[in-house]
Amino acid sequence: MKYFVFSFLSVTAFLGLTGCNHSSSTTVEESSEQTSLRDLLALPDHIAVPYVPDFNPVSEEKIELGRFLFYDKKLSANQTQSCESCHDQSLAFSDGVSTPFGSTGHQLTRNSQGLANVAYHSTFTWSNNGFLALEDQLNVPIRADNPIELGVTDPNLDEVLARFDADPAYVAMFAAAFPDSDSGTTINKIIFSLASFIRTMISANSAYDQYLLGDTSALTEQQKLGFSLFNGEKFECFHCHTGSNFSVSYRDSNTTEDTIVYPFFNNGLYNLDGEGSYPAADQGLYDLTLDLNDRGKFRPQSLRNIELTGPYMHDGSLQTLREVIEHYARGGQLIESGENAGDGNLSPLKSGLITGFDATDDEIDAVIAFLESLTDYEFINNPKFSDPFEEQ
Ligand code: HEC
Ligand code: HEC
Repeated sequence: MKYFVFSFLSVTAFLGLTGCNHSSSTTVEESSEQTSLRDLLALPDHIAVPYVPDFNPVSEEKIELGRFLFYDKKLSANQTQSCESCHDQSLAFSDGVSTPFGSTGHQLTRNSQGLANVAYHSTFTWSNNGFLALEDQLNVPIRADNPIELGVTDPNLDEVLARFDADPAYVAMFAAAFPDSDSGTTINKIIFSLASFIRTMISANSAYDQYLLGDTSALTEQQKLGFSLFNGEKFECFHCHTGSNFSVSYRDSNTTEDTIVYPFFNNGLYNLDGEGSYPAADQGLYDLTLDLNDRGKFRPQSLRNIELTGPYMHDGSLQTLREVIEHYARGGQLIESGENAGDGNLSPLKSGLITGFDATDDEIDAVIAFLESLTDYEFINNPKFSDPFEEQ
């Protein structure tokens, strides 16, 4: 099986949207392993096969089990929340609030991320250079104690696992998903199945995709203008939000270890002290590396289904896409008073790509309209990702 790699430049050149003509689309020969994964994930031809670590091969059975677990409140210690509580399919698996509350009532400091195409990111969460596989990250929502999400801890872990062992339907599903291991539920089996299910959450049938595949009427004239502004040197968006997943944090099954990148940027959202600090509750990558230059550095988000995943940014502080674009147009956010006061535009730590630009209302409207073309209605209505308990 062959699939086409459309690089950003080739697509825009092909569509006549910019004058660039630096590269052309290439055809990549897939291995039989990649082709069977493509079939299993029901991937359309224009999307690359995601990276799957060798230690957790995908199977139908793990995907199915992962889907049940994702929607099951039994996975939270006090049985009040499931993954779905913060990752709702109708919102492309985000939750519509700035920052959510966990199962014990703790408010989180970060915004719930949408999960469409999450498998293609090179790192996970808003800002963590150590989470390089979904399996690394998934311990967090289940087991973190600060802040608490699902609230599973060492003392209650056995009780939570026993809930699944006591349910014959789960016993059968765990046995089918892990035929070569001892019977019984383990946290690793839960995480491996959830990761497999989440890897299937692939969004590739937006109006933008139809346009890429040759239906020139799939985008309105306004959206086409927005697409070229997004990819132009005035708005500069594409430098950080590029490729099929609209993020330079990207990897797929063809990405080699020596070419993989783990990008994090400060986009000028805050500048509390004139030196580029962010609110102490969340300074991004700095909180892990303690390198002062990492203050405010976050992973560029995928923009797939972005219309549905507001409020925006790591702390959900920008309510609308218009506010997001006005923030970039200003070259950073100005907060005039209060504890977060400061001018992001003057931050010494913001990326050199966030310089600000003059944009007319019509141009901003066009970029918003283009971003809305990334909404994939098939994805948010796909029964494969819906709550399996509602079918029963
Ligand atoms: C209380 C709300 C809440 C619950 C419950 C929750 N999440 Fe999340 N999820 C979040 C937040 C907030 C983030 C961003 C975390 C960060 O940046 O540190 C996130 C991030 C993620 C990410 C990383 C996305 C990316 O783009 O890198 C994945 C994957 C994920 N969650 C899956 C799950 C799964 C699976 C469950 C159930 C086991 C779950 N979440 C339960 C709020 C929640
Ligand atoms: C220097 C790299 C860079 C450039 C250039 C850039 N972004 Fe971003 N973008 C980021 C980062 C990093 C984040 C996450 C920041 C945070 O959460 O604090 C982000 C977040 C976003 C979000 C919010 C995502 C979400 O899920 O909440 C949107 C929307 C967005 N950018 C759109 C754009 C648009 C439109 C442009 C062009 C005007 C642009 N970006 C230019 C790096 C960039």
